[in-house]
Amino acid sequence: MAVFDLKQIVTERLGENYDLHEKYVNPTFVKVLRTIGFDKVYAKAKGQYLWDKDNNRYLDMLSGFGVFAIGRNRPEVAQAIRDVLDLDLPNMVQMDCSFLSGLLAEALVKHCPPHLNSVFFTNSGTEAVEACLKFSRAATGRNKLAYLDHGWHGLSLGSLSIMGNAEFREGFGEMLEGVCVPYGDLDALEKTLSKRDVAVLAVECIQGKGVRVPADDFLPAAQALCRKYGTLFFCDEVQTGYGRTGKFFAFEHWDLEPDLISTSKALSGGYVPVGAMITRRTIYQKVYHRMDRCFVHSSSFGRNNLGMAVGLATLHVLDEDKLVERSAAQGQQLMDGINQLRSKHEVLREARGKGSMIGIEFQEPKSLKLKLAWKMVHAANDGLFAQMVVMPLLQKYRIITQVSGNHGDVIRILPPFVITDEDIQYFVNALDDVLTECQNPLGPMWALGANLVKAALSNRQSTS
Ligand SMILES: Cc1ncc(COP(=O)(O)O)c(C=O)c1O
Repeated sequence: MAVFDLKQIVTERLGENYDLHEKYVNPTFVKVLRTIGFDKVYAKAKGQYLWDKDNNRYLDMLSGFGVFAIGRNRPEVAQAIRDVLDLDLPNMVQMDCSFLSGLLAEALVKHCPPHLNSVFFTNSGTEAVEACLKFSRAATGRNKLAYLDHGWHGLSLGSLSIMGNAEFREGFGEMLEGVCVPYGDLDALEKTLSKRDVAVLAVECIQGKGVRVPADDFLPAAQALCRKYGTLFFCDEVQTGYGRTGKFFAFEHWDLEPDLISTSKALSGGYVPVGAMITRRTIYQKVYHRMDRCFVHSSSFGRNNLGMAVGLATLHVLDEDKLVERSAAQGQQLMDGINQLRSKHEVLREARGKGSMIGIEFQEPKSLKLKLAWKMVHAANDGLFAQMVVMPLLQKYRIITQVSGNHGDVIRILPPFVITDEDIQYFVNALDDVLTECQNPLGPMWALGANLVKAALSNRQSTS
C-alpha cells in the first residue's frame, strides 16, 4: 500500500510551484510574479527570515500582509498545534460548547475594554467583517452601510460592498447598500448619518491602502456622530489588531469605544486561519435573541481546535515577549531611520504610520533630469515607481516588501515585531542604495522603469 509521505513529496517536487499554479490555479498571478521577478521558491522560514531553495536568506518586511506579526514558525505556537493533535481532542462536535473556544474568547475579552465582552469566531478577516455588518443590521434594523474612501475590508460580497477602492467591485454585479464617505470629511459624514438610516460606519483606524493616518480629531468626531445618529461604530482591526500599530488595538491610540471590532491575521500565529468579531453583549443578543435563532449566524469551521489553540498561543507569545511594545519601538526606529534619508533623496517624501505599520511615500523629484523619467513612468501607470523600488529591494538585497495598492507612490512595510536593530539598519541602508541609484536617470533603475512601462502598455493592449 502506498504511504502518504509529505516530506518526500516536498523533497522531490519543490520547485514546481509556478508551473503547478500556472496550470491549475491562477496563471495571471504567475505572470505578474514572473514579470516583477518575485517568482522565488521559498523553502524554509523562521522568525523574520525566509530561505530559498539555494539557501539564500530573505528579510520579510511584509509578514504576509500582517499575518506573521510574531514571526514565522514560532515554536510555542507549533507546540500548541502538536498538543491539540497529541490530546486527540474532540473537535467541531457542533452540538456542544468546545473548551478551547471558550478559553480563547475569555483571553480576547481580557485584552479589550469592558464593553467589548462577546466574541464570534470566524475563519478569516472578511468573515469577521461580514459578522460585524450582519450584527449591525440586526441590532439597528437599518440596511445602509457607510465606509471611508480608500478603505479595505475584504473581498467577500458584504465586505466588498464597503470597499473604498471601487475597482475591486468591477465585474461582480450588485452590492449591498453602501455609502462611501470621503476620507476625513466630517461634514459629509454627518450628512450621510443624519438621515438615520445607516446601520454602521466601518473604519480602519489606520488604512492599510496607502497607510493613511487620520488627523487626530477625525475618528473621535466620527464616533461621536455615530452615537448622535444611532449608527454603530465599527473598527476593522484585521490588519491593525494584536499590536501592529504599537498598541494592542489601533483604536486605543484615540481612546475610541467601538461598538464592534473585526480581527484576524496575526491571531493565527501564522499557522491556522482564524478570526474574531468582538462586540457588546447587547448587540450580540440582537442576533441570538430566541432559542430557535441560536444558530442563525455560524460556520462549520468557526471555533475549531487548531484555530483556537494558535490564538491562545499567539496571545501568550505577544504578552510574554512584550511584542506589542516591541512593535512600537522597532517601528519607530525604522520610521526614524527612513525619514533621515529624506535629506539625501528628493524623491522620498516621508515614512509615516504607527508602530510597525509603515508607509513609505515617494514624490515627484524637482530636478529636471529626474522629473522627466518620473513623468514617463507615471504616464504608463501611477503605481510603477513604487514597484521600481520594491523590485531591486528583493533582487539585490533580498528584502520582501510590496507596493501599497495598484495606484500611488507608496510602499507598505509590515515587519514582524521581532526584527532586530541590525535588520532595521540593513533595510535603511538598502533603501538608501536603491534611491541613490534612482538619482541617475540613465542608470539601471530607470531602465527597469522603462521595462515596466513596456509590460504595462502591452498588458493594456492585450486586455483592451
Ligand atoms: C483591514 C482589513 N480587513 C479585512 C481584510 C480581509 O481579511 P482576509 O484576507 O482574511 O479575508 C483585510 C485583509 O487584508 C484587511 O486588511
